[in-house]
Amino acid sequence: MAAAGTALRFLKSFSGASPPLFSLFNNPRLTRSVAPLLFFSSAGFSPQQRAFCSVVSGAVASGEATKPEPVELEKGVRIREFRKKLKIADIKGGPDQGLNRLGENLVVRGWVRTLRVQSSVTFIEVNDGSCLSNMQCVISSDAEGYDQVESGLISTGAAVWVQGTIVASQGSKQKVELNVDKLVTVGTSDPSFPIQKKRVSREFLRTKAHLRPRTNTFGAVSRVRNALAYATHKFFQENGFVWLSSPIITASDCEGAGEQFCVTTLLPLEQVPTSREATDSPVNAIPRTKDGLIDWSQDFFGKPAFLTVSGQLNAETYATALTDVYTFGPTFRAENSNTSRHLAEFWMIEPELAFADLEDDMACATAYLQYVVEYILENCKEDMDFFNTWIEKGIIARLSDVVEKRFVQLSYTDAVEILLKAKKTFEFPVTWGCDLQSEHERYITEEVFSGCPVIIRDYPKDIKAFYMRQNDDGKTVAAMDMLVPRVGELIGGSQREERLEYLEQRLDDLKLNKESYWWYLDLRRYGSVPHAGFGLGFERLVQFATGIDNIRDAIPFPRAPGSAEF
Ligand code: 4AD
Ligand code: MG
Repeated sequence: MAAAGTALRFLKSFSGASPPLFSLFNNPRLTRSVAPLLFFSSAGFSPQQRAFCSVVSGAVASGEATKPEPVELEKGVRIREFRKKLKIADIKGGPDQGLNRLGENLVVRGWVRTLRVQSSVTFIEVNDGSCLSNMQCVISSDAEGYDQVESGLISTGAAVWVQGTIVASQGSKQKVELNVDKLVTVGTSDPSFPIQKKRVSREFLRTKAHLRPRTNTFGAVSRVRNALAYATHKFFQENGFVWLSSPIITASDCEGAGEQFCVTTLLPLEQVPTSREATDSPVNAIPRTKDGLIDWSQDFFGKPAFLTVSGQLNAETYATALTDVYTFGPTFRAENSNTSRHLAEFWMIEPELAFADLEDDMACATAYLQYVVEYILENCKEDMDFFNTWIEKGIIARLSDVVEKRFVQLSYTDAVEILLKAKKTFEFPVTWGCDLQSEHERYITEEVFSGCPVIIRDYPKDIKAFYMRQNDDGKTVAAMDMLVPRVGELIGGSQREERLEYLEQRLDDLKLNKESYWWYLDLRRYGSVPHAGFGLGFERLVQFATGIDNIRDAIPFPRAPGSAEF
C-alpha cells in the first residue's frame, strides 16, 4: 500500500441511527470489540457530520511530507461496522445448550417453522438456518406485537424478529426457550407456502429448490457441505498446497471423452427462432468454411471452446512450479446419464503433487478423505445425528470406521478376478479390459470388503485417459480409483506420464491433435518431474458423508439432462 498508488482515507461520517428493528447490533452483547474495517482518523471531524475522503499518495502513506488534499463528499455516510449476527447456533449450540445464557435478553431473527396456539400462550418455532434446532419462542397476549398472532400474520414461512429473555424450557425437547417481549413480522408468508409441516418427498422438494433449504434435511446438507468445503481448504493449506483457480472455459478435452458443452457466440441468442415456422434459421447464419464446415476462426475465441471437464491439465502446469497445488471449482460434463451419481455441473477437488508417484497419490487421497470425514464428525454433530436417525441409520459408525480403518488397495487384475469368482450375476458381464460399472464397484466395497473404502489401481490403458503413466507391462497405467460404499467411485486419479516420448506416442495412438497440447507437452520439455494427482467429485463426497441417496440433493441447484430450472 505504501509503495505505490493511492489509499482512500475516510475521515469522518455519520454514525446514522438505524431503525432498531433491522439493526444487527442493537444488543449490547453483540457490540463487543470488533476492529473497524476502515481506517478512521480523528482529524477532520466535522460537527456537521459530513464525510470527507482524501486521496493519499503513496509518498504520504509512507510518511513523506506531502499534505493530503481533503475532498469533501456531498453526501458521504459512514459504512456501518460489520458485526457477526447472533444466531440460534450461538445461543443453543454450546455444551450447555443455552443454559449458560439464562436471563439474557436478546434478539432472534428467522423464519417460522410452526405455530401452536394454546389457551394461555402461543409457541412459535423459529429457525435461522444456523443449526437444526429451532428457537422455541413463547409469547403471551401481553407481549408487544401479539396482535400479529391473532391476525394470522405469523404463519409457516414468515420472517420474524423476536426479542425476549432466555428461560429454562418446560418442554423436554430443548433446554431453553425465548420468553417473548416483542414480536415483529418482517415478511409475511402467503398461505400457499408449499412446504408445510408434513413430510414431503425429496422428489417434490427438487421442484421447489428455492425453498427447500428451509427444510431440516436441506439445511443440514447445506451446513455439512459447507463444513466439507472448509475442511478441504484446511487440509490442503495445512499441508502446503496452493489453491489454484483453473479456467472454466477451455479449448482442451482433458478426459478425451468428448462430453463437453460448447461455448460459442456463433449462434446469437436473439436470432434463435421461437417457432418452428421461422424460415430464416440462425443455423444458416453460422459461418462456414469452403468445405461447408463450421468456421470456428470466426467464433469468440477463434477456435472451438468448451466448459471444462477437469482442471487437471492446468493444475499440472502450476504443480511443476509451486510443487503442490489443488483446484476446487465447478466442472461440466455433457454425458446423458440420468443416474443418482451424475450431474452435468459438479464441483471437483483436484490436487496435483510434484515429485510424487502413485503411492503418494493414494496416500494423499486417503489422508484427505479421513481428514474431512473426521472434521464433520467432530464439528457437525447435530446434523450428523439427524442423518443417522432420518437419512441413513448407522452412518456415524460407518464414517467413524472410515477415519479409523486402513483402506484396502488391490490391482484391477485382482478386482476382475474377484468379480469373476463372485456368486452373483451382474447386469454388465466382466472380462479383463472392461470398464468397471457401478454394480461391480459397489459389490467390491460393500460386500467383499464390508464397507471399507477400496482403491483399485493399475487399470488397462485402453479404458483410461491419455495422460496416465504407462506401467512397465505395456498394458496398464498407473491409475487409481477410490471406491466407497453406496456411491461407488468417489475419486479418480493417476500418476501422470512425465516422459515426453511416451506422451507423444500416446497422443498419436489415440489420434489426438498433438499441436493443441503444445503447452502441456512443454511441461515435459522443461524440468519434467514425476507427478500425480486425483479428482474428487464434491457432490459424491456430500452423498457419502450425509447418506443422501441422490446426487441432485447434494448440490443446491442440480443441473442434469433436461433440468436447469432455478
Ligand atoms: O474420474 P474423473 O473423470 O477424473 C478426472 O476428471 C481427472 N482429470 C481427475 C484428476 O486426476 N485430476 O472424475 C473425477 C471424479 C470422479 O471420481 C467422480 O467422483 C466425479 O469426479 N465425477 C462426477 N461427479 C458428478 N457427476 C458427474 N457426471 C461426474 N463425473 C465424474
Ligand atoms: Mg473416473
